[in-house]
Amino acid sequence: MSNPKLYDVLIIGSGGAGLSLALKLAPFAKIAVLSKFLLTDGSTYYAQGGISAVVDVQDSIESHINDTLIAGAGLCDPEIVQLTAANGKQSIDWLCDQGVEFTEETTENGQTQLHLTREGGHSHRRVVHHKDATGKAISEVLIARAKESRNIALFEHHNVVDLVVINKHEPTTRKVVGAYVLNNKKHCVETISARIVVLATGGANKVYLYSTNPQIATGDGIAVAWRAGCRVANMEFMQFHPTCLYHPGARSFLISEAVRGEGGLLILPDGSRFMDQYDERAELAPRDIVARAIDNEMKKRGVDCVYLDISHKPAEFIKEHFPSIYEQCLKFDIDITRQPIPVVPAAHYTCGGVLTDSFARTDIDNLYAVGEVACTGLHGANRMASNSLLECLVFADRAAEAILQQLPILPDPPVIREWDESKVSNSDEEVVISHNWDELRRFMWDYVGIVRTDKRLSRAMRRLELLKEEISEYYGHFRVTSDLLELRNLVIVAELIIRCAQLRKESRGLHYTTDYPESNDEQPPQSTILTP
Ligand code: FAD
Ligand code: SIN
Repeated sequence: MSNPKLYDVLIIGSGGAGLSLALKLAPFAKIAVLSKFLLTDGSTYYAQGGISAVVDVQDSIESHINDTLIAGAGLCDPEIVQLTAANGKQSIDWLCDQGVEFTEETTENGQTQLHLTREGGHSHRRVVHHKDATGKAISEVLIARAKESRNIALFEHHNVVDLVVINKHEPTTRKVVGAYVLNNKKHCVETISARIVVLATGGANKVYLYSTNPQIATGDGIAVAWRAGCRVANMEFMQFHPTCLYHPGARSFLISEAVRGEGGLLILPDGSRFMDQYDERAELAPRDIVARAIDNEMKKRGVDCVYLDISHKPAEFIKEHFPSIYEQCLKFDIDITRQPIPVVPAAHYTCGGVLTDSFARTDIDNLYAVGEVACTGLHGANRMASNSLLECLVFADRAAEAILQQLPILPDPPVIREWDESKVSNSDEEVVISHNWDELRRFMWDYVGIVRTDKRLSRAMRRLELLKEEISEYYGHFRVTSDLLELRNLVIVAELIIRCAQLRKESRGLHYTTDYPESNDEQPPQSTILTP
């Protein structure tokens, strides 16, 4: 038997993390990049605000570090924060070299420089952006560069089922050698062998009923790594973005934090402001505080949403800085130059994930994790705005360095046995999947959302046990489909979130429980680490 699909590096995910890494490796290695649906379907494409980086002479790396540590509520790894902040400028330069065009401004003395916007938690203007559609500008360029490379093979509609790990139960000798992948077009499971595998699958925010994320964000990489034997950390810290457009016709449309950065105010239906009662930084407090404040006001007053108002700014300024948001809202008859925007919080970012070291290495040999799927220690208990794209770039760079050192000494992987479908048939009851998918996302929203209690977490866990059993039985009997794979992964991710939340007997950062409303500052704070 030969290895029909053998690559030096298999990168699972075509977002900012996966494609940056592929481009950095491509001059030296043969790479495969997989995307579950289209190449543009990750969160990266939808990123609005921008990338944080110290490029202004008035700003400093120390200040970026300090702001990140404050937002992270005592749980960031200071070395990782230092490393990331110090590589901001270099990451922006690399993107510019690839061809990304960021928004510029002309200074008083006629010079052109990058325009920097502001977001919550940042004590300086520090966010490099392309208008209000930074992710699209980055994705389109990275995809174009990847398509030009002869060493990068791009596979759309390829959904990873599981990693192939040899000596799985021997922590000292186990290693990843490839993956089983569902080809969504041919409806069959293929085998891909690789000397190195990288998870770059993004976050898990579709575990909640309301989310700003695209469909792909079902935590597949976290679940796959967990099943393979990797530790996972800090899953209780799911970030809710304070301002998602509230309109029955709008699905998951974010209203960027940069709108508040440029002067947007949060108001109640009667037009009064409320954020100054919660934090002295008001609208620009870190996200956990703003999302909780909105949630509290909505529940206290029984209102369906609050409003974000930037209409006091000149119309031309609004249209120039926020063209996509302006256009999108106009489709729903909301003219943001004249009217406040109805907004609600929605699940946005997974701060926890697969535990990695400072070179993106996981617990399993030859397996790396980069981007939102990973828990590097950068975000701690709460990610600061625009630090995520930066993390994707910095850790793609770190992973590339480690992989290029490792590749020359790695042998080809052994031949992997084919996927066995002899004991399964086609599903006769797809409704089980759609029903369980809805149920899971609703109880996660109701019981494991912005405000938690012990009782709610136990309720969620009881329901989860039942779903887990049903889905495991279903998986054992029927051929895999994309929906089944996603649901199987979402159930694992939900369990990891609930277990981490149950272990944290305090409120910290994004994890808030009315049973322990204060942070426990008697002992140094610890990450929550789960071992399979
Ligand atoms: P993604 O970009 O999500 O890419 C994941 C990739 O993995 C996709 O290609 C997907 O198809 C693939 N994949 C997933 N599962 C599988 C599977 N089973 N098999 C094969 N492939 C799979 N952060 C910032 O720093 N600044 C911002 O301005 C900003 N704005 C945001 C706005 C929105 C609306 C959202 C949703 C997020 C925003 N974020 C922002 C967060 C940031 O965009 C993400 O954290 C980051 O882009 C994640 O990049 P990634 O490469 O890790 O994953
Ligand atoms: C936003 O534009 O508000 C999103 C920024 C982020 O998630 O970092």
